[in-house]
Amino acid sequence: MCGIVCYVGDKQAKGILIEGLKQLEYRGYDSAGIAIQNGNAIQFDRAVGRISELERKISDRAMQGKSGIAHTRWATHGEPTEANAHPHRDRDERVFVIHNGIIENYRLLKKRLETKGYSFRSETDTEVIAHLIAIYFHGDLCEAVRKTMIQLEGTFGIAVIHRDVPGKIVVARRGSPLVIGVGENCHLAASDVSAMVRHTNKVVHLLDNELAILSAEDFSISTVQATPIERSTEIVDWQAEDAELNGFPHFMLKEIFEQPETVRNAIRGRLDYAEGIPRLGGIAPVWDSLKQCRHIVIVACGTSYYAGYVGRYIFEKLTDIDVSVELASEFRYRRINFAPNTFVIALSQSGETADTLAAIREAKRKGASLLGVVNVVGSSIAREAGAGVYNHAGPEIGVASTKIFTSQLTILSLLALLLGRHHSLSLTEGVEAIRAIDALPGQISKVLSLAHSIEAIAEKYYLKSNWLFLGRKYNYPIAMEGALKLKEISYIHAEGYAAGEMKHGPIALVNPEMPTVAIAPKDSVYEKMVSNIQEIKSRRGPVIVVVNQGDEDIKEIADDVIEIPGTLEFLNPILTVIPLQLLAYYCARLLHRDIDKPRNLAKSVTVE
Ligand code: AGP
Ligand code: GLU
Repeated sequence: MCGIVCYVGDKQAKGILIEGLKQLEYRGYDSAGIAIQNGNAIQFDRAVGRISELERKISDRAMQGKSGIAHTRWATHGEPTEANAHPHRDRDERVFVIHNGIIENYRLLKKRLETKGYSFRSETDTEVIAHLIAIYFHGDLCEAVRKTMIQLEGTFGIAVIHRDVPGKIVVARRGSPLVIGVGENCHLAASDVSAMVRHTNKVVHLLDNELAILSAEDFSISTVQATPIERSTEIVDWQAEDAELNGFPHFMLKEIFEQPETVRNAIRGRLDYAEGIPRLGGIAPVWDSLKQCRHIVIVACGTSYYAGYVGRYIFEKLTDIDVSVELASEFRYRRINFAPNTFVIALSQSGETADTLAAIREAKRKGASLLGVVNVVGSSIAREAGAGVYNHAGPEIGVASTKIFTSQLTILSLLALLLGRHHSLSLTEGVEAIRAIDALPGQISKVLSLAHSIEAIAEKYYLKSNWLFLGRKYNYPIAMEGALKLKEISYIHAEGYAAGEMKHGPIALVNPEMPTVAIAPKDSVYEKMVSNIQEIKSRRGPVIVVVNQGDEDIKEIADDVIEIPGTLEFLNPILTVIPLQLLAYYCARLLHRDIDKPRNLAKSVTVE
């Protein structure tokens, strides 16, 4: 969940590494550290807090050297203190290691080392790695890392430097992402490409149980069994400016405002008006099993899970397939009957979420066909799923997912429509849906133009400490997503509920101090939503409603109204979620929260 960045080349490493860390800070951010090598000397430093703390601490230290490793930590073992921050080093300060992930057998390894007389400077699981590499090092750093990897259980992406091996960095992975960047007179490695796009767009993905040795001139990859690997470079289409604020105060707001473009990217080249059918090239390898499948299981976590939840309603509307949606973290405890015609769809922005990865491995083991809907090209889930549809939404930096959610909903709609057309949907229905999907980017822009009035609503309610979000059918998961957005960035307690469930419990909470956000576009459950709003009003609860433009009736009962354009019922969530994203954003801003880096959260959850 942390960030790793390494550089070896013809330039001074310090500035490049700090810059790279800043790009990765969104992944984890409780402490940071750096080690720079110059010949046989290694200088290092660490600081608790943001990268800017580390930057300040080392600003007047020369730290000369053209190779180095740097880390931003999201603590799993040991508090975020300077002693626990990476890099960690061996007894003689010859080996310096940074690590992303968890070493599950570290207690056993630590005990063994302690009985041999080694003492530990930190409480981390990582420090054992430094000691083991030092023990196994007899002149060949790759060999020492290999021998260490064999001892380790759990997940890791590591980068290692050694005093006796100047100008070289060894990186290795099992379960945590690591990408090598091929630049001019330099090589880089990082947990994701955003740390490298300033220097190169040529990357090579390291796979599990592989390691690589990098120097300014070249790199070579091999397996833990020392088998050499030849892998060609890929070009990434992310631009340096994608990872910059471009005038927005926060990445979250920038990403909310990118949604017309990201939804357009999700449909670009994929709409066939003549046939009333979407074209999704990435599914070709699994198309035969997909078109015959009778049961789809969608697996995902967090916001991606809520996208899957909406997806269930969409598939049920457009196809004849049974759909279930599972939290990836609970999936392994289920006893799902994987009949031969069961299909699993995994949704993940990062493509690295450990629970989702574990779920697709379990599904594979049980013989299910798989499809990934992933934003990060070349990520673990994208690779392991074998077939998939990319979001093409550019990097999402804000920890709270926004633009990927609407992109996922768009892609799920395309998939469902494609299958629906192969089942029973007519050409006319297909064309109607394609036309409505095509109109979404323009409609999203209209919703975004309401930002100021939504900010004014946030000003009215941001000091309320409990909120309720209600929706039915397609908008029930949107109620849950709206509540999640508010909690994660503003720390206000919020519950997302199916509106019909309100009278079975949550109504007990309703009072003038608890705002309810009701999602009530003019759809098949509109009248029922209106009744629920009346029930809340009768108990003097303030109600903010998201409705379709021109809904005069609801204006009479609601306290605040957000009017959005109408679309086909199954596409409504793509528009209804946007005011909720903005509401959460403005409440968090009024509360002076750290919006892009909310406490305790990390962008990419690579631990189970
Ligand atoms: C969203 O706002 C969250 N921070 C989180 O729930 C996220 O959606 C979840 O961790 C899944 O991530 P993924 O899409 O990268 O797999
Ligand atoms: N498990 C390691 C630690 O707690 C690494 C955590 C991370 O990935 O940042 O230090």
